[in-house]
Amino acid sequence: MKRIKAICLLILVLSVSIGCYAQYILPGAIWPDTKGNPVNAHGGGILYYNGTYYWYGEIKQGATWRVPGSTWENYRVNAGGISCYSSKDLLHWKQEGVALQPVTTDSTSDLHVSKVIERPKVIYNKKTGKFVMWMHIDSQDYSYARSGVAVSDKPEGPFQYMGSVRPNGNMARDMTIFQDDNGKAYHFYSSEENQTMHICELTDDYLSHTANDRRILVQRAREAPAVCKYNNRFYLFTSGCTGWSPNAATYATADSIMGNWTEHDNPCHGTDADSTYHAQSAYVLPVQGKKDMFIFMADRWNKTNLEASRYIWLPLTFGPEGTPGILWKDQWKPGGTD
Ligand code: DGJ
Repeated sequence: MKRIKAICLLILVLSVSIGCYAQYILPGAIWPDTKGNPVNAHGGGILYYNGTYYWYGEIKQGATWRVPGSTWENYRVNAGGISCYSSKDLLHWKQEGVALQPVTTDSTSDLHVSKVIERPKVIYNKKTGKFVMWMHIDSQDYSYARSGVAVSDKPEGPFQYMGSVRPNGNMARDMTIFQDDNGKAYHFYSSEENQTMHICELTDDYLSHTANDRRILVQRAREAPAVCKYNNRFYLFTSGCTGWSPNAATYATADSIMGNWTEHDNPCHGTDADSTYHAQSAYVLPVQGKKDMFIFMADRWNKTNLEASRYIWLPLTFGPEGTPGILWKDQWKPGGTD
């Protein structure tokens, strides 16, 4: 009997220590899913649908290597497709499986394991009842520079790949999708050899691009876009272009999404703010039911072992003038005290 009690206690202690009962977000730590496996959802984005959050991200699995002959830090793993996890509380994440499968046979496919599939973002289209995923699709040397789109009837997938485009003929690498309150959706993408950001309004079904395509942050060389709306103003957080290595974030604001964007200084403060806490922006998540509460989601890449990259989720707050601020926290929970 004593031995059984001791084993039960050991199992409980182990479960708590690997985070099965995670009570806090621990930026930079391994984030176990509800089965105890590290969440594998990099460069991700979150959809809130019917009371549940769905986290989509790049599956980074297996050996990391540097593409031979690359003059920049072009480290990569085989493209593993896109994962999906679900959660009600943003702390406990259940693995829903592979939302978009990579292709192992046809080497010409955009989704072949030899390609680049990055920064997936999913939005729900009320008119069509479809879940639409956009992502950055590239060749190993990043010269393909396209955006891929996939659709599903269910948030967790499986998503059906429809193909890729260069929006309005433009190169497209790092990207995000922003869905406005009026249902219009916008594709933010690093273009023109990553020197200039573009915003393009999507068609009503979210499956293609309209001609409403605007150049912003011209020649500012920004990537990793993440967007939110606060007090009717739009905020765009970006990084500089330094491969997998972190650098200082900046943010830009606009009163109208297709209007004029003004770039501002680093929203991060305190120790390691100059490297975005050794991370790079991925997404800004509005927390449901908590007015004006946002989470800044970023990736702390491990360039020589990409599978061991971690997530930095921190509260994003706004001052009286609408100035955004991000501060490091060792542990915290949305809506709670730390
Ligand atoms: C920076 C981008 O933000 C990442 O998504 C990835 O494409 C790396 N560059 C590759 O070096």
